[in-house]
Amino acid sequence: MNERIATAKIQVYTIPELSDEEKKLVERAKEATLTAYAPYSRFQVGAAILLNTGEIVTGSNQENAAYPSGLCAERVALFYTNSRYPDIPVKTMAIAAQTKGEFMESCTAPCGSCRQVILESENRYAQPIRILMVGRNEIWAVNSIKELLPLHFDKNSLEG
Ligand code: THU
Repeated sequence: MNERIATAKIQVYTIPELSDEEKKLVERAKEATLTAYAPYSRFQVGAAILLNTGEIVTGSNQENAAYPSGLCAERVALFYTNSRYPDIPVKTMAIAAQTKGEFMESCTAPCGSCRQVILESENRYAQPIRILMVGRNEIWAVNSIKELLPLHFDKNSLEG
């Protein structure tokens, strides 16, 4: 038996350490939490996407009485971005969340399904997507979703 260890390179920032462009993206993700439709979980998530052109697109989670019909903020934002701007790669995504009027203390990481969808977008445009996971005092960042999905399934897996 052999063991193989998968590691993730996560950068930990305080807000002042971010570039102005990334500070703005974080702010837009926090603002987007206010547009969430989350009457069931009361967990309001905002995602802000920075395109290669500098444009920012935001999205928030949209819940449903039939729970599985709802969608996470990251996928709302990314599916909208990729349909509205099909020729423009995504550079960075910031994710923030709040509940009961307070932003989360811990950094909000994308769920497994969102990681898979972000991976598809990275591969589609052959450009890694930097992810900023926003917490109250810290931002955790990865330079590619592959850091959060080390053993991934993608188009190459279909070819064996
Ligand atoms: N949610 C997101 O929007 N993004 C995530 O990465 C995790 C979870 C939403 C889904 C649901 O509306 C609520 O948060 C509670 O799970």
